Order: sequence, then C-alpha cells, then structure tokens
Amino acid sequence: MTILERIAALEVALQAALQDDQALGNEANLEAFRLEFLSKNGALKTLEAALKDCPPAEKGPAFKAYSPIKKLAEERFEAAKEALEAQLADGPIPDEDLTLPPPMRHPGARHPISIVRSEMIEIFKRMGFTVSKGPEVVDDWHNFTALNFPEDHPARDMQDTFFLANTASEGGEDAAPAHLLRTHTSTVQVKLMQSTQPPIRSIMPGRVYRNETISARAHCNFHQVEGLYVDTDVSMADLKQTLFQFVREFFGTEIEVRYRPSYFPFTEPSAEMDISCQICFGSGCNVCKHTGWVEILGCGMVDPAVLTSCGIDAQKYTGFAFGMGIERVAMLRYNIKDLRLFYENDVRFLQQFATLQ
Ligand code: PHE
Repeated sequence: MTILERIAALEVALQAALQDDQALGNEANLEAFRLEFLSKNGALKTLEAALKDCPPAEKGPAFKAYSPIKKLAEERFEAAKEALEAQLADGPIPDEDLTLPPPMRHPGARHPISIVRSEMIEIFKRMGFTVSKGPEVVDDWHNFTALNFPEDHPARDMQDTFFLANTASEGGEDAAPAHLLRTHTSTVQVKLMQSTQPPIRSIMPGRVYRNETISARAHCNFHQVEGLYVDTDVSMADLKQTLFQFVREFFGTEIEVRYRPSYFPFTEPSAEMDISCQICFGSGCNVCKHTGWVEILGCGMVDPAVLTSCGIDAQKYTGFAFGMGIERVAMLRYNIKDLRLFYENDVRFLQQFATLQ
C-alpha cells in the first residue's frame, strides 16, 4: 500500500467513526476514539512515523493529504471533550424537555356547602358542642313519633317525606311504611338522648330529604345543622344567646337578629330566628322580599314529652334545640340566588370557591 493509499484508508476510517452520533458523545467512547486515532500508538501517530520515513518525492503530497485529516481528528476530539466537560459540570441532562409548558392541573377544591358546614361546626365546637352523626334511613318513630308528631297528625305534612317501599318481611304492601329518608337531623337528637344522659350539648350536621319540587329555593335533598342542649336549668335565654353568638361569629358583629313565635311539635315554645338581610342590608332585595329580614332557623325549648319518650327525666332536665339549613346560610354568605347551583357541579360555579379555605 502506498503512503497516499494509507492516508486515504485512514480518512475513510476516521469519517466512519465521526459519522456515528455517539462516537464522541460520552466519556467511554471519547476515550476509545482517542486510543484508536490520537494516542501514541494510535492510527495518526503510526502514520506520521511512516510519513517521516517515506521517500522525499512522496513526502510533500503525503503531508498535504495528511494534515487536514489530523486537524479534523484533533478538532473534533477537543470540541467533544469540552462539550462533555461542560455537560458534567451542569449535571446530568434530564430526560424531559424542560422547555415544554407544564401540564395543566385542575386541583379539586372544597364544595361551598362543605366550607360553610365546617365553619359552622367549628363555631359550635368552640362553644362546647360535640358533633353527632346518624343514619339517613330511619324508621318513622325516630323521625316523627319520638319527636311528638302523633300518628296521623297533620303536622307530619309539614315535611313531605320520602317513604321507602316495604319489604314482604315487614308486613307486605298493605302495612304502614316502616322506613323513610330522614326529613331532618332531629333523628340524631333522638338517638343521642336515648343513649346518653344529660348534660348533652351536641350538633348534628347531615343530609336530609324532602319530597319537594326542585326550584331556586327548595331541593329534595339538602343539608342541616341541628343542635341540642339538655341539662338542668337550660333556659330560653341560653338558646337566644347561643344562636346570637353563632350568627355574630359567622356573619360578623353588625348582624341583628329577631325571633318570631312559631310551631314545631317537638319544641314548646317554638320560634324562628331571622337575621338582618346580608345581601341588601335593609335597603330591600328579592332575597328578603323587601323586608330587610331573612329567616335562617327554627328553634325552641325541647317539649318535655320528647325528653320523656327518649328516656330523659323531664322533671329534672330542660333543653333547647335548633335546626338550620346549610344551603340557606351559604346562599346568604356568598350571595347565591339559586339553590340548584349547589348540586349541578358546574365547574364555573365551583371554581369560584377554590381559593377559600
Ligand atoms: N327539625 C326542624 C326542621 O327540620 C328544625 C328545628 C329543629 C326546629 C329543632 C326546632 C328545633 O324543620
């Protein structure tokens, strides 16, 4: 092989090595390249030795052909080495493309009903109330009879009830319905009084059901927080002060309240509490029907007949009870005009509460 042929063969080998993307891309390959071409015993040095020994007539053209090949090998090696060193200094290259925009995240948020419920619970807890829960399917006795709704008494119509179909074992189709979806969380009060002797001071948050036509103001399923306090010498003054304190904490100290006489079978006397309208502050709006007042809860002193039917000595103890709808309170808090929004799960509505608690 002539010297020029050897140079041409070396160029072919070098070009082939440089074709490969990875040839100089990592430390191991770079070292292999160096050993093959640039080291003392590498192809370039070996050829250089041959060049020096070749006949003077061939030397000139041979060096001319060889120099650019040598330059190419050295330059590419140096550049790759520098790039690799810089890369090592920066740390490993991550697999992901860090220039891409981050993926959109849609984190969940608490529902406004949950936000309001938690806040109500916290306020009552600070006043010394415990939290009690109970089943949503109850029998007629817990929902009505124990609460002083006599059988076939029209007061049962105050709350349109979803009765559950009887099973054959409970008497077949002709028997009176035995179970229903609770119409109020007062059922939990009954269970609590049956299982605990006073002092009892507890609230009952929960979902309730009424067979009502769905509208902006009513729904067939909604949420309540009821409360019960039974002890010796519990009075109407305690009731009023507790509820006043609650609305002041929840809505702010500017709030005004008033009580109107009312009727519930399980309380005597009974009242409904109104608060000053938090939407128009008295100037008149649809929510308060231009009266400046909005009803938010029912309350009263527990009827002694209820204490007795739940196994509590009505001679020794008195109690107060109250119940309010969480939806109504949330509507006043956030100025929401249509109760159905709470159940539609429209993200445009729900997102507005994402930054709250
Ligand atoms: N249970 C009543 C209702 O759901 C509310 C209430 C509770 C009223 C306690 C008075 C006392 O309408």
